[in-house]
Amino acid sequence: MKKNLKALLADKLKPQELELISKSYDIIGDIAVIRITESLKKHNRIIARAIMQTHKQVKTVCRQITPVSGDFRLRNLEFVLGERKTETLHREYGCIFKVDLGKCYFSPRLSYERMRIAQHIQQGETILNMFSGVGSYSIIIAKHSKPKKIFSIDINPTAIQYMRENIKLNKIEERVIPIQEDSRKAIEERFPKVADRVLMPLPERAHEYLGSALLALNPNGGWIHYYAFEHAKRMEDPIEKTRTKVSEKLHTLDADFEVTFGRVVRTTGPNWYQVVLDIRLKN
Ligand SMILES: C[S@@+](CC[C@H](N)C(=O)[O-])C[C@H]1O[C@@H](n2cnc3c(N)ncnc32)[C@H](O)[C@@H]1O
Repeated sequence: MKKNLKALLADKLKPQELELISKSYDIIGDIAVIRITESLKKHNRIIARAIMQTHKQVKTVCRQITPVSGDFRLRNLEFVLGERKTETLHREYGCIFKVDLGKCYFSPRLSYERMRIAQHIQQGETILNMFSGVGSYSIIIAKHSKPKKIFSIDINPTAIQYMRENIKLNKIEERVIPIQEDSRKAIEERFPKVADRVLMPLPERAHEYLGSALLALNPNGGWIHYYAFEHAKRMEDPIEKTRTKVSEKLHTLDADFEVTFGRVVRTTGPNWYQVVLDIRLKN
């Protein structure tokens, strides 16, 4: 597919520009989101047309004009070509996600990670997802493993509205429970000591919420899946850097724990990485 895109653009862009383009777009349902530099902006429509020719399912092309930011982790999108819309239906591992890309966070680049977590779940577990968005992790887990309940918290009312719809679309009403609230408050007031496993997919700020994650866990112990962004120079290991920071924090919280696994989920910029750690809490 990408080869085709390069062929379509070969006489319009320089080879290094082509290389950049082929790595800098995502397809979510029938919407392509391109992230291109200001210098390539003048080629917006040509690039969008080539993407639509290469990926026949794409009906809309938008350009991401700001980084993901704010409490709701949103990005500003500018319409480029096709149907003017930001809502789409995305399919992943047999699940359907309805999402408005202008009003909720969603990334198809986390699909492997979502399935990796689903494969860890033991039958009958209670899971608490502190930052659920439109329900992407919770729904993949509910469909591909056998948890008892997944309490799925998010502070963004629009994300919760889509999560409710996605729960119905995927027919998992009994297992995924949407909760619109700040996760710290929800855990303190309603969900202390309930979970066998806590998910923390808010890499910018998960560190601040580690105390709440511990509070949510069953006193017999359990698991935390912790996400972070980490900077690492050439000779540095982003996983080790994350492990050191998290371990320091968990020691200050008097936790008895073991980091059993870590990996780079994706590269997010020059020398920047998204890292996940699987942490086992003992009782
Ligand atoms: C990076 S997104 C991840 C969403 C989802 N897990 C996914 O991967 O598609 C983080 C989510 O956390 C939510 N969020 C941010 N701060 C929060 C808080 N204090 N309590 C609950 N949700 C929060 C945002 O609204 C956003 O939907």
